[in-house]
Amino acid sequence: MSHKLTKRQAAPTRRPRLALAVTLCALACSAVLTGPTAHAQANPALLGDKTAFIDDLLRQMTLEEKIGQLRLISIGPEMPAKKLAEELAAGRVGGTFNSVTRPENRPLQDGAMRSRLKIPMFFAYDVIHGHRTTFPIGLGLASSWDMDVVARAMRVSAEEAAADSIDMTFAPMVDISRDPRWGRTSEGFGEDPYLVSRIAEVSVRALQGDTKPIAANRVMASVKHFALYGAVEGGRDYNVVNMDPQRMYNDYLPPYRAAIDAGAGAVMVALNSINGAPATSNTWLLQDLLRRDWGFKGLTVSDHGAITELVNHGVAQNDSEAARLSMKAGTDMSMADQVYIKQLPELVRSGKVSQQELDNAVRDILGAKYDLGLFKDPYVRIGRAADDPPDVYADSRLHRRDAREVAQQSMVLLENRNAALPLKKNARIALVGPLADSHIDMLGSWSAAGKDKQTITLRQGLQAALGGQGKLVYARGANITEDKHIVDYLNFLNWDDPEVVQDKRSPKAMIDEAVKAARHADVIVAAVGESRGMSHESSSRTSLSLPQSQLDLLKALKATGKPLVLVLMNGRPLDLNWARENASAILETWYTGTEGGNAIADILFGDVNPSGKLPITFPRSVGQIPSYYNHPRVGRPYTEGKPGNYTSQYFDEPNGPLYPFGYGLSYTEFKLSEVSLSQPSMSADGKVEASVTVKNVGRRAGATVVQLYLRDVAASVVRPVKELKDFRKVMLQPGEEKQVQFSIDRKALSFYNAKLEYVAEPGEFQVQIGLDSKEVKTASFNLQ
Ligand code: NOJ
Repeated sequence: MSHKLTKRQAAPTRRPRLALAVTLCALACSAVLTGPTAHAQANPALLGDKTAFIDDLLRQMTLEEKIGQLRLISIGPEMPAKKLAEELAAGRVGGTFNSVTRPENRPLQDGAMRSRLKIPMFFAYDVIHGHRTTFPIGLGLASSWDMDVVARAMRVSAEEAAADSIDMTFAPMVDISRDPRWGRTSEGFGEDPYLVSRIAEVSVRALQGDTKPIAANRVMASVKHFALYGAVEGGRDYNVVNMDPQRMYNDYLPPYRAAIDAGAGAVMVALNSINGAPATSNTWLLQDLLRRDWGFKGLTVSDHGAITELVNHGVAQNDSEAARLSMKAGTDMSMADQVYIKQLPELVRSGKVSQQELDNAVRDILGAKYDLGLFKDPYVRIGRAADDPPDVYADSRLHRRDAREVAQQSMVLLENRNAALPLKKNARIALVGPLADSHIDMLGSWSAAGKDKQTITLRQGLQAALGGQGKLVYARGANITEDKHIVDYLNFLNWDDPEVVQDKRSPKAMIDEAVKAARHADVIVAAVGESRGMSHESSSRTSLSLPQSQLDLLKALKATGKPLVLVLMNGRPLDLNWARENASAILETWYTGTEGGNAIADILFGDVNPSGKLPITFPRSVGQIPSYYNHPRVGRPYTEGKPGNYTSQYFDEPNGPLYPFGYGLSYTEFKLSEVSLSQPSMSADGKVEASVTVKNVGRRAGATVVQLYLRDVAASVVRPVKELKDFRKVMLQPGEEKQVQFSIDRKALSFYNAKLEYVAEPGEFQVQIGLDSKEVKTASFNLQ
């Protein structure tokens, strides 16, 4: 896939759609059909029996109709309306993505209803962290460590998407990421198999609901990117993945598995290769593991153009071979390329792809449509034209309260010296920074149908919170970067409507203005970080630094001697060495979404006490990557405070992360008791209860996350130094204490051994409980 195609594809929401809808309607508008499809009407008894219904339909399908079902096309300039109408009527399209309103999709479904067998299409879209309402990005949702918060964001996203006629989302994205150079780190939920698995499961349930067929106000989840996409070598997007099986099974595969066990209807296959075999043509991955071992019975969708890319990977000579390999591996649907539709007729006729293989793929697609309730009613989410929202962008369609409350939970307080935060509402505040008033950047990447103008920027949020009190002076202070090459890169998908707009003044003029504002203020709030395009698909970086323009600004502000509060907006861990030394406070907000500015203000003024915890390690430098907390043990471990010679460390920098996994401050303080265990040993199928008491020893109400880690002291293979196994978010009034009890069972002790057997090995286990992954209280027990 060309680079350009990827980027255009990656920002589908900013393209005008009305023209397409109008043209299509002119071509295809017919009376809205409601109720079961013709095939379903003719076979009412069959409709209740999924397998029988699909088999019966399959028997009636021609080769061309079957192959048509495998085609998932992107609505856009590549597929003009006239052509699309013809393709639909000929039964040559299984589903589309990127058309996101009922008036757009109704004529498309009308087209499918005019085809010979009237097989409904489905409409998919990248609803990753919100639809019309934008919630915090994945890293932000994960920072809440609160499954109700995640579920709320996903449920609202599903409801909004379904109300816009979307049937399927390409989410959740559960790729474990331990390399922040990778731009897509922002989309996922961090580095930890357990936390990401919990989020995967909760997300799938919230998106799909718990009914079969999936209800009209829910969408099918398509978990991605299967598999291991987050482990691309060097954090460079689309690069290869090489990984030993134990690491795969123990660390990287569990979140996909959790999503599938929670009932995800679909799986998106990753773009990368795994140990030399591209995922798209990887029979081991898609047949042996996914279908045979995990029992997956749903739909597999290729990623954008991935089938034809098998030629670039060098495993297929040409498109024909690419189509054959991916069909044999079990990639059911081909996204946005012509390979199946062009190559399969000949491949099937010549027997290179068997009828059985083709039928298996078609069955999965029809099965997904069945589970979406589309055979009962192809218009189940499209509804009647009379009920269409008069204005899809109407503010009344947004869920602002949900967005604000979810965002409040998604931020992590990294520093707070001399109680610089919370701010006083009568303070004079100098608000500076290129992200302080940037609507588009509040959205973060993959913002679906979110509209930048509907976001609340930090400037707006602070102004509203101050009411008539205090004073807010705004000065931009710096551009995101002065590097023209980077600005051009970030803007190349939208030259006519650039996302990164440069202030034409000189850097010095901007800094001078900001410094002047700071001199007249009690406190400086600086919104710095990355523009949203910097943490995106195809946005890998070699550096984690703040761009020089922003660092120069911060240094000048620091020189004023005024308290400097950093509000970070970014989609990956950044190198915060300077900030850590020099800022009075640092609030990591990631990208907070539609209500971001209000939610950040709620935290800055202390109306809400921050309670987020990092779902990913912040390394000190790029050189430390990968810097995940659950590293396998080594023969010569480095011990803090001891001389480091001949231990596993870097001699030119302090060891360990800048901010560890699980870390985050509050405006109050918490104390943890020692760990007490219910018994010193555990029988093979028994349990050990581990408890601690957590107390709010500060003066404000607040929540913290009590985290349970385990270490397998001696095992048959090298095991991690610790692994998260459970957590509990606890709200405490000042002076209040609560006992938190974790039940440790055999599953918590189990792992995949050298033979990939899932085992719990007898011996000692160390329990570690803390409010982050580093500072922990310990106790031990034996598994008999
Ligand atoms: C490519 C991306 O890798 C994938 O995550 C996304 O769902 C598809 N494009 C569709 O937009």
